[in-house]
Amino acid sequence: MSTPTDQELIERWRGEPAPLLPTLHAFHDRDGYISEGPLRAVSSGLGIPVAELFGTLTFYHHFSRQPPGRLAPRVCTGNICCLKGGREVLAALKEEGATAMPCAGRCDDPVPVLREHQVFVGATAAALQSRPSPVPRPNPGGIEECVFAGIRAPGRATIGGYRDSGGYEGLVRALEMDPVAVVELIEESKLAGRGGAGFPTGLKWKAVAEAPGAPKTIVCNADEGEPGCFKDRAVLDLDPHAVIEGMTIAAYATGATRGFIYLRYEYPETCAILARALDEAREAGLLGDKIAGADFTFKIYLRRGAGAYICGEEGSLLNSLEGKRPLPRNRPPFPVTHGYEDLPTAVNNVETLASAPQILRRGAAWYQNLGQNGQAGTKLISLSGDIQLPGNYEVPLGLNLQTLLYDWAGGPVSGRSIQAVTMAGLSGGFLAGADLDVTLDEPGIRGKGSFLGAGGIMVFDDRRDMVEMAHNAMEFFAEESCGKCFPCRIGTQRLTERLAGEAGPAEEAQWIEEVRDIGRTMMATSACGLGMAAPHVTESLIKYFPQQITRHLES
Ligand SMILES: Cc1cc2nc3c(=O)[nH]c(=O)nc-3n(C[C@H](O)[C@H](O)[C@H](O)COP(=O)(O)O)c2cc1C
Ligand code: SF4
Repeated sequence: MSTPTDQELIERWRGEPAPLLPTLHAFHDRDGYISEGPLRAVSSGLGIPVAELFGTLTFYHHFSRQPPGRLAPRVCTGNICCLKGGREVLAALKEEGATAMPCAGRCDDPVPVLREHQVFVGATAAALQSRPSPVPRPNPGGIEECVFAGIRAPGRATIGGYRDSGGYEGLVRALEMDPVAVVELIEESKLAGRGGAGFPTGLKWKAVAEAPGAPKTIVCNADEGEPGCFKDRAVLDLDPHAVIEGMTIAAYATGATRGFIYLRYEYPETCAILARALDEAREAGLLGDKIAGADFTFKIYLRRGAGAYICGEEGSLLNSLEGKRPLPRNRPPFPVTHGYEDLPTAVNNVETLASAPQILRRGAAWYQNLGQNGQAGTKLISLSGDIQLPGNYEVPLGLNLQTLLYDWAGGPVSGRSIQAVTMAGLSGGFLAGADLDVTLDEPGIRGKGSFLGAGGIMVFDDRRDMVEMAHNAMEFFAEESCGKCFPCRIGTQRLTERLAGEAGPAEEAQWIEEVRDIGRTMMATSACGLGMAAPHVTESLIKYFPQQITRHLES
């Protein structure tokens, strides 16, 4: 097959919704990097000023401007991978031009290395192999699940296997109902957003349904960039039709006719799985025009990000889809009224959407009652680090954290004790000591000064230097801060320097006061959740590990 020309690549995507990312990927795939000529061709082909396009292109970690570009391996040096030899794997692959990448969402595996369109995992560079997403373990108590309820069924990732295990029954039920009743059912179930912010899903769908303007859009946020989170990957890889069905139910409930799945770049195998599942759903008449014979049209477009944690923030994600520099948007207005192309849009997390079909099938009361201790529903937790059985678990909201750590996941590795865990991936900072006796739900975790967020929990045992762990975390936030607002851009840098021992007062009380002051300013004045959350890391370090700070300042 002959190599496509610039013009052919542009024509392939011009006229399609959200064309910039796939066009840039097409050039990047063809050449391995994006040089001056293609940049100018895309600029004139899609009508984006060249300076603006340059700013957008260079924002993303995975788009290269020169060789070896896409051919160079990328090695995860996220917090957990650093404990498992990530830096050593990176050093071993240096001759091939390998570069570091932030958490690649494989914390339950050995170190991941992204090579072109495949991820390999291995404890050393010599042991790299490709491996599919592991099937989540059932919980030992046989506690009922929602999102993972069907995920272990044979062939579940294919439309045949999915339908054999109850798939698309929820959509059929929804289509028999009035859209308003579907929204009411979701409201009654008390399902809340599982992407981090916990906004009630029914209320979000209602706002989109009632907002003026069309076409309306459903966006599945599959960016999953939070370090320590890998639950959405499991759902997308093993149960892709659940997400497609959830999006279609959301579209019917809100009156949306178009949808996007925004998938993080670091999940190339997932991209292929989703593309296949979307084709299957279209062929089966479950996507497109006259879905399941009803007077209802909904189309889903798959778009691949290009490496930028901030693109998981919904405003940033929408700007990314629109081909703009992906900075968070000022709020209000919110996406429910002014989302994709300034029209009503529901942005929902993978897990939130995958819950909807089960709720339609089994009812609002069923879902509510899955929770414990007065909490409604379930939450996927990605557990990683110094724990015997890392992996994804679906817990009833309200379950005690110790039950998950010790009874479900086997406790710490032999001869060690758990020193601390993170919450919300890294964004919730650390919990330690007596505060590990807490229930997994927002009221419980917020009572300890943290939050559950997207449900990533990293475990650190008594071997770990917590100042170093905090430094790694803050370095990530500093690297990923989009730079739009001053307190976050500068604050994350200043905190990283202090945790590295490179700057700040040598006297402990002054060091603590200064670090707290920076954190307070960031929390109060940052424009988005990244800058507001990052100080949880330093606040919790000061709260739980004052002696380690003393040692850090003395050394
Ligand atoms: C810095 C930052 C990163 C985020 N990353 C993600 C993400 O990767 N996936 C996600 O679903 N939500 C992410 N969110 C939350 C989204 O902005 C949004 O609240 C969510 O997608 C809404 O879906 P839900 O209501 O179903 O949770 C992030 C928020 C912030 C501030
Ligand atoms: S808080 Fe940070 S990431 Fe968020 S908009 Fe401001 S600079 Fe960007």
